[in-house]
Amino acid sequence: MVLSRNRRWAQLLLFFAGLCKPFSRSNMCSGIVENYVAAMVLSAAGDALGYKNGNWEFCKNGSVIHAKLAELGGIENINVEDWIVSDDTVMHIATAEALVKAGKNIEPSNLYPLLAKKYKECMNDMAGRAAGPTCMNSCFMLNPATPNGWQIPFHKAAGGCGAAMRAMCIGLRFPRPDQQNDLIRISIESGRMTHHHPTGYLGSLAAALFTSYAINRKPTHEWGKGLMDVLPLAKEYVEDAGRDVSQNLDVWSYFEDQWHSYLEKRGILNGLSLPIFPEEYGVENRDQFYSSVSYSGWGGSSGHDAPMIAYDAILASGDNWTELAHRAFFHGGDSDSTAAIAGAWFGSMYGFKGVPKANYKKLEYRDRLEQLGKDLYHLV
Ligand code: AR6
Ligand code: MG
Repeated sequence: MVLSRNRRWAQLLLFFAGLCKPFSRSNMCSGIVENYVAAMVLSAAGDALGYKNGNWEFCKNGSVIHAKLAELGGIENINVEDWIVSDDTVMHIATAEALVKAGKNIEPSNLYPLLAKKYKECMNDMAGRAAGPTCMNSCFMLNPATPNGWQIPFHKAAGGCGAAMRAMCIGLRFPRPDQQNDLIRISIESGRMTHHHPTGYLGSLAAALFTSYAINRKPTHEWGKGLMDVLPLAKEYVEDAGRDVSQNLDVWSYFEDQWHSYLEKRGILNGLSLPIFPEEYGVENRDQFYSSVSYSGWGGSSGHDAPMIAYDAILASGDNWTELAHRAFFHGGDSDSTAAIAGAWFGSMYGFKGVPKANYKKLEYRDRLEQLGKDLYHLV
């Protein structure tokens, strides 16, 4: 009797769990739109916090940032009203606006010129936001009004994080497993509109893919293995697309090797084990680690290590916004980009839970970001 009552409860629970499956639209949990909104807004909040009007993005010492943060009363006390968003958010908005404008027509001939147009136009909104040199130069080259004017040639120094920092919304738009090929194609092509180098555009793929995992509540320790499994498909896509193939393949391995080594270090290469962190992993240790995985010493400034540092932070902090901020927003590396990426993943998984209102209430462009979150939600 007791057993059968328990079984009935279990069946009821399963039934409600089914109702909450995020990606069957007919079974949609009502809360999920909040996760879309939170992903867009908290990415920008992270960017503004990590940037601190330029003072903290370019501060190379995490301990100095943490001391200033303590002086300001900690993250709970920070009102972002006067902390503008940086280029990361302006370009993220550009990606999202192009996706929304394209609607259901995601054919290359429709979507790619729209993306190129938005990237080019958003460069008019970069005063005081420290736009990246590769982003600026490439946007200058884009010519969205002409056929294939969204394509730029391979560049050996285009491995920066400028493609990764603006790609999270692609994961919001293509969250389902059956949309994975579109996610791969669009994250790569939008990425290489400015960063035609695998280290750059695979960063875009990682940022988008992990956002799709986050919105699906895939356990975080499985994400890295997911990326390693998707990389061969990305390579196939680049080969099939047929643009500057040998140059791309010559430098392909760097991104993959760096990620392989990182996942091995954390013990999560198999996607089954839980991550292992060093016993001593405070602000200084993290700065050293972030720098050690970087291309040229500035942790988080490239396509491979911006999502990697954001991932390292999200793995350790779970649903604790303050902990996430300490690890991903406030460090001696390229802090606004790792923050923009980590903030999107946090919002995708946890919404605004535990986030001090002051960190986003008066955020610049909050209305636009909220609307884009809603629009992307309705497009899926
Ligand atoms: N592989 C890996 N990293 C590379 C490579 C390479 N082949 N070549 C250069 N880098 P940058 P962005 C590194 O400055 O990507 C805003 O401030 C190089 O060491 O062109 O256009 C955002 O907040 C350099 O440090 O920027 C971001 O911080 C790094 O790529 C940034 O601009 C960044 O390249 C993103 O924009
Ligand atoms: Mg920036």
